[in-house]
Amino acid sequence: MTSPVFTPRVFSGIQPSGGLTLGNYLGAIKRFVDMQDDAFETIYCMVDLHAITVWQDPADLRRNTRELCAGFIASGINPEKSILINQSQVPEHAQLAWIFNCVARMGWMQRMTQFKDKAGKNAQNASLGLFAYPALMAADILIYHATHVPVGEDQKQHLELTRDIATKFNHDFSVDFFPLTEPVIKGAATRVMSLRDGSKKMSKSDPSDASRINMTDDSDTIAKKIRKAKTDPDGLPSEAKGLEERPEARNLVNIYAALADQTVAEVLTEMGGKQFSEFKPILADLAVAKLSPISTEMARLVAEPDEIDRLLTAGAQQARDITAPILRQTYDIVGMIPPKHV
Ligand code: TYM
Repeated sequence: MTSPVFTPRVFSGIQPSGGLTLGNYLGAIKRFVDMQDDAFETIYCMVDLHAITVWQDPADLRRNTRELCAGFIASGINPEKSILINQSQVPEHAQLAWIFNCVARMGWMQRMTQFKDKAGKNAQNASLGLFAYPALMAADILIYHATHVPVGEDQKQHLELTRDIATKFNHDFSVDFFPLTEPVIKGAATRVMSLRDGSKKMSKSDPSDASRINMTDDSDTIAKKIRKAKTDPDGLPSEAKGLEERPEARNLVNIYAALADQTVAEVLTEMGGKQFSEFKPILADLAVAKLSPISTEMARLVAEPDEIDRLLTAGAQQARDITAPILRQTYDIVGMIPPKHV
């Protein structure tokens, strides 16, 4: 059988489970914007069904979903070029996820490091949704037959599982229906680390606010957090080799490179030899210059929630033109009888 040629299509998602961090911006959103301008069809999603795998206060969930949508747009996602959706408004995601729950194996899910991290010691008390999380993520991607998924490093294992699910489905039903999606994990900031501890990922769930830059932080806060970021006593090397075993120094250089759209080598050619007392203010100025227009625009957009809701409704309609036929074909492959139109 010849393999079908899939239209180049990008899908990615972010959980509205708290504010956006610099990690989300550099590892994901900034790269979503770049791909929007390439020759891809692009679909970006606020994954509210994923967010509720751990407890979310309903009012916070609504606010965070709108704020995330504002963050996407303020960062440069153009609803005229990309389809922007809220996951729960496109029911085919959850419908395909059920099929995938029946394809994926318990053992596959048990190996997921994100589940182990999030469930912690008391896995018996984790929600069933948290366990099944990667099957819903595979459905998010495959309900569009997406070919490329830009993400940060921490999502790599989930994307491998997405390929495993597609392969097993295709094999079980002797079809070549779902593509083997390519993860796109590129650039200097695929893993932005905590500003307080270079061995930990920058995360919205870290109890220390000083560990991260939030996309809603004002200029003074951003500058203060960078000034106080943990470093070591040495200056900046002039080659990347000199950053080995220096996780905090490497992290600040990576952040600079990603914000400046430069490679680490280019940054070090320019900055090598500087002390952190000199480099940190330069980094802070760059971060403020790049991030403060985004936070100002986010504040303007969240003040108009009706406009955001309208955009998301339009996005869901566009999305369903793609997802409804793919779900119909999936049901047919599995052997489900379609409703008769009378
Ligand atoms: P989430 O909401 O945890 O993170 C969203 C995106 O931000 C990236 N990211 C980072 N990148 C670099 N450094 C960091 N410190 C950092 N923190 C977060 C993540 O890698 C991710 O790309 N499971 C996903 C959401 C999801 C999804 C999908 C993604 C649901 N369905 C389908 C892609 C395709 C998640 O929890 O992302």
